[in-house]
Amino acid sequence: MWDPQQYALFASHRGRPFADLLARVGAEQPRLVVDLGCGDGPLTLSLTRRWPGARVVGLDSSPQVLDAARALDTDDRVEWVQVRAEEWDPTTLGAPVDVLVTNAALQWVPGHLDLLPRWADALADDGWFAMQVPSNFDAPSHALMRQVAARHPRADHLLPVLHRAAAVAAPAEYLGALASLGLEVDVWQTTYEHVLDPGGAQRSPVLEWVRGTGLRPVLDVLTDDAERAAFLDDYTAALDAAYPREPWGVVLGFTRTFAVGHRLSRP
Ligand SMILES: C[S@@+](CC[C@H](N)C(=O)[O-])C[C@H]1O[C@@H](n2cnc3c(N)ncnc32)[C@H](O)[C@@H]1O
Repeated sequence: MWDPQQYALFASHRGRPFADLLARVGAEQPRLVVDLGCGDGPLTLSLTRRWPGARVVGLDSSPQVLDAARALDTDDRVEWVQVRAEEWDPTTLGAPVDVLVTNAALQWVPGHLDLLPRWADALADDGWFAMQVPSNFDAPSHALMRQVAARHPRADHLLPVLHRAAAVAAPAEYLGALASLGLEVDVWQTTYEHVLDPGGAQRSPVLEWVRGTGLRPVLDVLTDDAERAAFLDDYTAALDAAYPREPWGVVLGFTRTFAVGHRLSRP
């Protein structure tokens, strides 16, 4: 579902929303910090530097990703646990959670709005929940992916997996869901104008960007080389037209939704 090496090609762009999200979390000396859908480690380890006294737990569904995270965590600072978000039982931690962060992961978890009560319930008094999801389902990068899929010979297999990826709710829905759980809520959207590949080294920087995440379902279906090449040729041409190269690079507009909930005290 996710290609960490490909993702790391754009690490500074990808890390920016995490920093913007955590900037709105006011916890000073949390005891327990959880990163849900933590990925291969660098961002979770940054939590240990911000809160050196905290127990930090990284949860992810992928064993390969967690192996990479463990290799990066040379001081054994984080507890890395394999679990699907849908099945995670916060009571197994044995303590209330002071900060629960989930960055760029819930788009892979359909129905995650229904999981918010369980996660909010896991928060300590003065605890924080912080999430960020991409809201780019209608951006040209993704709309063109669906258009190319619709005219590909394997359309019947491609379209369902691409539509399944539409698991992200509107900002107001996150606000309503978290506020109704008794949290003080801060929700916003940001569109980043990412300048990709200013040096001109990549044939199609937007293609390289989506290869790390949004295109994964397509690549997983198209295991035949010829079928994959046909898709990528058609898609690359469409991306070239939608994202022309400027003298400073290729500009990818990318909208993300952020939601932070603060539990002031239990009702
Ligand atoms: C795009 S990566 C983001 C990783 C990291 N949070 C970051 O911001 O760099 C999404 C992560 O969510 C994980 N993931 C996908 N579905 C999941 C699920 N159902 N439960 C837990 N983790 C999941 C993937 O394995 C991957 O590590």
